[in-house]
Amino acid sequence: MHHVQVKRRMGESDVAEVAELLATVALADGHRPLGEHKWLDLVHGGRTGFAGFVAREGRAGPLLGYAQLSRGHRTWGVEVVVVPEARGPDHCVTPDLLSAAVAEVGRQGGGHVHLWVAKPDDWWDDTAASCGLHRGRELLQMRRPLPFAHEDLGVTVRAFVPGEDEATWLEVNNRAFASHPEQGDWDLDTLLEREAEPWFDPDGFLLHERDGRLAAFCWTKVHEGEHRLGEIYVIGVDPDFQGLGLGRALVLAGLDHLAAAGIGTGMLYVDGDNAAAVSLYRSLGFEVDHLDRAYTGDVASTR
Ligand SMILES: CC(C)(COP(=O)(O)OP(=O)(O)OC[C@H]1O[C@@H](n2cnc3c(N)ncnc32)[C@H](O)[C@@H]1OP(=O)(O)O)[C@@H](O)C(=O)NCCC(=O)NCCS
Repeated sequence: MHHVQVKRRMGESDVAEVAELLATVALADGHRPLGEHKWLDLVHGGRTGFAGFVAREGRAGPLLGYAQLSRGHRTWGVEVVVVPEARGPDHCVTPDLLSAAVAEVGRQGGGHVHLWVAKPDDWWDDTAASCGLHRGRELLQMRRPLPFAHEDLGVTVRAFVPGEDEATWLEVNNRAFASHPEQGDWDLDTLLEREAEPWFDPDGFLLHERDGRLAAFCWTKVHEGEHRLGEIYVIGVDPDFQGLGLGRALVLAGLDHLAAAGIGTGMLYVDGDNAAAVSLYRSLGFEVDHLDRAYTGDVASTR
């Protein structure tokens, strides 16, 4: 029999226990659970609206699962991480953690909820539906081998200069991603938080200028580990310069940078319904490795 406990603040030992669970699950699944935003929220002690939920064997046994609720700009984000042995339609750890998180949203005034599930199995549809959540956005993770031999593109790029390029980059990013739910309204704090991350490397953040303006950029991120992955982290072309071949050229510049760093696999995430980007990546030989899905729904206040 398992037991679910809610924690509105996580102490050092709680974070260490969750980190151990995440490492176990990462090893079993071949990818890291808990998105970047949520991990930062957890290790920085939790912003307003944060709640962690731990499920353990009995009252003091080992962790079987962890769910985290984080409040975003407009929505609540939930993620559920469960050890492989306690997953699936015959186990109730996942639905119990999820319903505890959804009930907490109700207690905190309700709102729109996004539950991200990496590589969802079929049983997730029913589990999510039992808590009032239904299929929403799908994020594809695409990969291709590196290096990528290609013709010279004749497009010059330079590295981002911290302390100088922030305002210009934010303007072009927000114009390129105007209709994107998470990437289109970045402010200086969001950018500086990323620049402070240990993986941040301005040499892998490439800018292309044309007519004295920032026209396009490709920001790469290296995932260290046994199997190093080179991510096209954010790629954008100013709307005034789209359709001119810059998207293609900048992705290739990013891949060249990653290959030169000795990385053998290029990777990126793209919204399944971003036809322009998916078609660009397919034409560059990227193939879908797996998909992550959001389940969404509106939760009523129970205050
Ligand atoms: C996606 C994006 C980077 C493409 O850049 P771009 O400079 O406009 O694209 P390119 O001119 O290099 O076109 C390259 C390929 O992209 C695809 N493509 C570009 N625009 C497209 C569109 N509107 N519809 C369908 N495919 C399109 C085509 O496959 C094209 O190849 P083709 O020229 O042989 O037809 C750009 O549209 C953009 O910044 N979009 C907003 C931000 C974004 O969605 N970024 C990707 C997030 S993962």
